[in-house]
Amino acid sequence: MTDYRITTLKTAALFAAVFLWLAPANAADIEAGRRKAEPCFACHGPTGNSTDPSIPSIAGQPAQFISTQLYFFREGNRKNAQMSALAANLKNADLNDLAVFFSAQKAAPPKDLAPEKVEAGKRLSQQFNCVACHGAALLGQQHIPRLAGQHTEYLRVQLRGFQAGTRFDMDGNMTSAARALPAAEIDALAEYLASLGAP
Ligand code: HEC
Ligand code: HEC
Repeated sequence: MTDYRITTLKTAALFAAVFLWLAPANAADIEAGRRKAEPCFACHGPTGNSTDPSIPSIAGQPAQFISTQLYFFREGNRKNAQMSALAANLKNADLNDLAVFFSAQKAAPPKDLAPEKVEAGKRLSQQFNCVACHGAALLGQQHIPRLAGQHTEYLRVQLRGFQAGTRFDMDGNMTSAARALPAAEIDALAEYLASLGAP
């Protein structure tokens, strides 16, 4: 009980720190974001649609999700050799501008199609209620990411990471959501999610 309260307090402090400066997007912020996004294009693609299955697409992700993750990379909560180095020098205004720019980009149609696995994945996403947080069409909301159309390989690695405790999880929700999933179900979910289109 005590542990739970401490976690909640820490989470509340994190949220206050992350979301304080998030203002509604305007065209000038998006344009500023485009200029600042130049170093990101090599890996995430010029419109935030990566072609490398190990690198997430960030086009059309909720802006709040992008700025939060950049904040976590910068502060060292979430760790990745490539991203941690890049985020280290970003200012709060940069996080916001980059977030609104990539959020305003259109997600590419899904390429990772495995029709024979899709039915099983759909059933599992209903059974485990992924839609409760990630949204009815799994497009994400606020600080919660879009899963629809993300690369299969990236989704699989992140789900295993939550399960193993190696991917930072701001409120513990994903670690509990992934805890009980056998490897075969992680594979089926990843293939199903990757096959979904995002508008
Ligand atoms: C050298 C390649 C590289 C560059 C350049 C790069 N990234 Fe990344 N990015 C990655 C990788 C790899 C990951 C996945 C990290 C992981 O597995 O935890 C990632 C993850 C992310 C995530 C988390 C997305 C998610 O779905 O969890 C965001 C947001 C992000 N990058 C934004 C940016 C921005 C903004 C820039 C430019 C300032 C940038 N990246 C530059 C490789 C790169
Ligand atoms: C109680 C809310 C909740 C439920 C239920 C939930 N998620 Fe999540 N999920 C989150 C949050 C919040 C994050 C961001 C966590 C962070 O980075 O700290 C997340 C992140 C993720 C990520 C990382 C994606 C990325 O781009 O980095 C994947 C993959 C994921 N969830 C898959 C699932 C699947 C599959 C299910 C159902 C089995 C599920 N989630 C159920 C809240 C939830």
